Amino acid sequence: MEKLVIHGGNRLTGEVEISGAKNAAVAIIPATLLAQDVCRIENIPNISDVVTMMHILSSMGAVVHYINKHTIEVDTKPVNSYIVPHEMTKKLRASYYLIGALLGRFNRAKVSLPGGCNFGVRPIDLHIKGFELLGATANVENAMIVASADHLTGSSVYMDKVSVGATINVMLAAVKARGLTIIENAAKEPHIVDLANFLNAMGADVRGAGTDVIKIRGVTHLHGCTYSIIPDQIEAGTYMVAAAATKGDVLVKNVIPKHLESISAKLVECGAQVIEYDDAVRVRCDGPLKRCNLKTMPHPGFPTDMQPQMSVILSIANGTSLVSEGVWDNRFRYVDQLIRMGANVQVDGTIAVFQGVEELTGAPVRADDLRAGAAMIIAGLVARGTTEIEDIIYIDRGYEDYVEKLRDLGADIYRKDFRDDTAQPAAG
Ligand code: UD1
Repeated sequence: MEKLVIHGGNRLTGEVEISGAKNAAVAIIPATLLAQDVCRIENIPNISDVVTMMHILSSMGAVVHYINKHTIEVDTKPVNSYIVPHEMTKKLRASYYLIGALLGRFNRAKVSLPGGCNFGVRPIDLHIKGFELLGATANVENAMIVASADHLTGSSVYMDKVSVGATINVMLAAVKARGLTIIENAAKEPHIVDLANFLNAMGADVRGAGTDVIKIRGVTHLHGCTYSIIPDQIEAGTYMVAAAATKGDVLVKNVIPKHLESISAKLVECGAQVIEYDDAVRVRCDGPLKRCNLKTMPHPGFPTDMQPQMSVILSIANGTSLVSEGVWDNRFRYVDQLIRMGANVQVDGTIAVFQGVEELTGAPVRADDLRAGAAMIIAGLVARGTTEIEDIIYIDRGYEDYVEKLRDLGADIYRKDFRDDTAQPAAG
């Protein structure tokens, strides 16, 4: 097992290159199932969630070639199974995209309920409702989602709640359905647009992605294509916050600045300077960090996946900040770890009040989930003394080469192998 060791206090300075978007990659890889052909995907992030998804496709018969660290070729023609067992899905929330993709390809899917980050109840009722509106039956049987249809038929699908996953799953199921599907109150995240562009590159007819209404006219055949994934909005935002929190000066490269607007706006409110270039942003901060209020919302609002990282700034900013979580019902678990480092935070349901403190101090903490882990790293970077972070397996799921990238920016951070000395040998 490994943990991270961080000696805090160094300013981050220099340049960092952002990898391809995790949440786009984990949707686009299952989407290749729809083509029964060879797809070449570039700018794939080298993270464990992607490795898991590729592993699932391989286990179903797809032929996967790594051309280089960030480019793969997937031939999904040999896939002949529509069943994905628990051993495959337990590590990855996004494994539920296999339901939409397999339904689209085989008109049936049997996929074990997904694992992944736990920040509250994560229902999939909207996904199931969407499949049913397209003419499928979908039920949960023995912890597996079983969906099937004679054929899928385009339909009007209104999302009661804005859901990234349900929007993507209905898109995947609808691209080869008969007739027109209209998704209303659709999610608008950048990776929804990226998936639509990928599907269209395979010959699909998807319009309106990035707005509330997505129209999908079903086609009978999709073909292979070459496609490059967008940069990761959340990885970029995480380095931007780390730069500001450490009073650093960092050029964050290979980004789409428009995707970062809500994050840039909050950093500016907190006293940082953000300069936008065509495909980079520079974040620097040399004055005091200021308080601000934050409410997470679906895109283009402030992303919930940036809430824990941004909260580290608020825990050392001047004054009192209010953070309101508008997407998930239980996304403040990491606060207990920040309190161990000296933060002054009160949580009441989906609202947290941060009373800024002079400084954080290093402590042994854990990564409760992927973005909580990113927040712990930022807290460790600004803290006085040494922070040790356990359960970094979560962070490995979504951030490529983060130790190397942070070290290049001047951070004192390294991985350390450890054996849990307190663990007792199993009885019997
Ligand atoms: C995706 C992201 C995740 C991010 C989240 C919100 C991926 C792989 N993961 O997760 O990192 O935090 O978007 O930006 O892209 N809901 C229902 N019923 C459903 C589905 C969702 O009530 O059937 C609710 C959820 O409980 C939550 C809200 O809708 O309160 C948003 O969830 P959703 O957008 O679906 O999140 P994910 O797609 O799982």
